[in-house]
Amino acid sequence: MKGLILSGGKGTRLRPLTYTGAKQLVPVANKPVLFYAIESLVSCGITDLGIVVGDTREQIVAAVGDGSRFGARVTYIQQDAPRGLAHGVQIAREFLGDERFVLFLGDNFLRDGIQQFVERFESDSANAQILLYHVPDPQHFGIAELEGERVVRLVEKPKHPRSNLALVGIYFFDHHVFEAVAHIRPSFRGELEITDAIQWLIDQGYRVAAEVLTTPWIDTGKMEDMLEANRLVLETLAGKVEGEVDDRSRLVGKVIVAPGARIINSHIRGPVIIGANTEIVNSFIGPFSAIDHDCRILNSEIEHSIIMEHTVIEDYSRIEDSLIGRFAQVRRSPAKPSATRLLLGDHSQVSMP
Ligand code: DAU
Repeated sequence: MKGLILSGGKGTRLRPLTYTGAKQLVPVANKPVLFYAIESLVSCGITDLGIVVGDTREQIVAAVGDGSRFGARVTYIQQDAPRGLAHGVQIAREFLGDERFVLFLGDNFLRDGIQQFVERFESDSANAQILLYHVPDPQHFGIAELEGERVVRLVEKPKHPRSNLALVGIYFFDHHVFEAVAHIRPSFRGELEITDAIQWLIDQGYRVAAEVLTTPWIDTGKMEDMLEANRLVLETLAGKVEGEVDDRSRLVGKVIVAPGARIINSHIRGPVIIGANTEIVNSFIGPFSAIDHDCRILNSEIEHSIIMEHTVIEDYSRIEDSLIGRFAQVRRSPAKPSATRLLLGDHSQVSMP
């Protein structure tokens, strides 16, 4: 089997981060969300991977390279514009050949991996296999209607959903999907929808198997979802201190301190991960926080947040439920008149007490 990961697209819901970076590279526990997709494929023995890239190609290539560090071989496939998931499949035709394959959306996160679904698809005669997940807000997803175990209808982001079973962004196909993609037309949002391609397979009498997931799945398109994925991963990590922790500091619970990091006169309550060369001084870092490499946190309190690389936070208490991008600076200033001074990119969000 081959793997096809879609890593193009726009990422409008994660602005302003996605003005400068690929949404698939936003870190979950200090590791790009895309890497979890690659690792779950490789751990099932799927090492021949195609990655569809768009405008952010250079960043994705810089991060993933030729795939060898994951034990994979990566072929990049350029998409000229985000014309839809099914378009991503169409342009990968040559790479995929006639092999069965897994289509993995690069911003989807499945905590417990895909092994059992790969095994099922490999031993089954189904032409396609989809995964479904009960969601509270079905209008934001592709939605499946079942009759018993049979999938009868799939609708992309319906205004009036007839079920709350969302299509997870991990699909399994045989070569008939190319025929399906050739038959569908762009949707209301101008994209070739994979949902419509699967509906075409159903209508033509091809067998589409479905499985309802019971382990956590997250579409990391929004900040709250990133924080939730971050929480899920941090919960599973074992603590490990490789950096320096002075004797005035206190580490409680599972805490990872990467090499070169320094914890000085601070209190860290895990689960927390502190990246390489980051300095935490006179601060409190609370549960479910991931502070990436080369940050400096001074006289501050942070909890349940993702702080990306090279960011400085000084004299600020307290930051919670936040996602802060790379090279950001947040500090309390003594300058008069005392006021909040902001330099924020488009679509930034600030909520103050
Ligand atoms: O996450 C699950 C949902 O993913 C499904 O329930 C929906 O049925 C499916 O359409 C998809 O919906 P989204 O609106 O969330 O898809 P999004 O545009 O965010 O794209 C998903 C990934 O695919 C993302 O990593 C970007 C990439 N992509 C997207 C498009 C439209 C591409 O590489 N090329 C594209 O043309």
